[in-house]
Amino acid sequence: MHVNNDASAPHKVRIAQSFGKAARCYARHNRLQQQCAETLLHRLPNRLGVVLDAGCGPGVNAQALSARAACYYGFDLSAGMLAQAKEHFPQHTWLQGDLEQLPFAAECFDQIYVNLALQWADNLAGVLHQLIQCLKPGGTLVFSTVLEGSMAPLGPLFRRVTGHSHHNQFLPKPELLMCLQQVTAQARAVDACTTKFHTEHIGIPYVSMRDMLYDLKGIGANYQPAGRARLTREQLRQVEDGLECYRETDGMLYLNWHIGFVSITKSVA
Ligand SMILES: C[S@@+](CC[C@H](N)C(=O)[O-])C[C@H]1O[C@@H](n2cnc3c(N)ncnc32)[C@H](O)[C@@H]1O
Repeated sequence: MHVNNDASAPHKVRIAQSFGKAARCYARHNRLQQQCAETLLHRLPNRLGVVLDAGCGPGVNAQALSARAACYYGFDLSAGMLAQAKEHFPQHTWLQGDLEQLPFAAECFDQIYVNLALQWADNLAGVLHQLIQCLKPGGTLVFSTVLEGSMAPLGPLFRRVTGHSHHNQFLPKPELLMCLQQVTAQARAVDACTTKFHTEHIGIPYVSMRDMLYDLKGIGANYQPAGRARLTREQLRQVEDGLECYRETDGMLYLNWHIGFVSITKSVA
């Protein structure tokens, strides 16, 4: 696989712009992200030290984390997201950069929290390796990420109608497990690590396809690889018709997500 770790690489610039456009209204569209944040926050100790919120978006988790932390840092690729975070929480330090090229020294954070940002990385193992290096001994990295099977039934319907995928290729669960084995084995050469892992299926209810698409756009996750044609009205109508078969008995359409939750604790010496 070709890995381009340059934050100025065209696809990274477009991802950052896409999220930047969504920054102002993000908090109206983030039901999935909020649910995952709750789970991740419970995986951290009550009292936190120096915390990095990586892929922090517009600072939606800043309050919950900083209330428990000695010191809080937000880090994101998108200048637009960080501008919004800074507007709401000027007291914190907000840093712009790429998770794949962390600008931090080794062993400088007690906890690192990454909610639903790592699915945008080109090289997950490489990012995890760097994040673990930034943890102090005894420190904990918690993250959630989107796994294969997510975005059903919308994603498969788009694929059926247009002949190609309209979203990220999400990692299959066995590949995430292999990746965790690889990075913790690597880390063990220097520090021992313990890992906890579970997955959850989360369905977010919508009245219509339009509302689903509105949320995906609203959180900035509507980035498309360059050259990908926009859907025609007719294709959208076909997807909308196809979705009706999936309307549940409560009258709602569900967008289903398969989320992996991981915590990695670095042993003390
Ligand atoms: C779905 S949002 C999640 C935001 C927040 N963590 C939350 O809980 O709502 C994903 C965030 O990851 C950021 N992101 C994507 N790729 C990144 C990268 N390579 N480095 C840093 N941040 C990245 C995006 O700019 C966006 O703010």
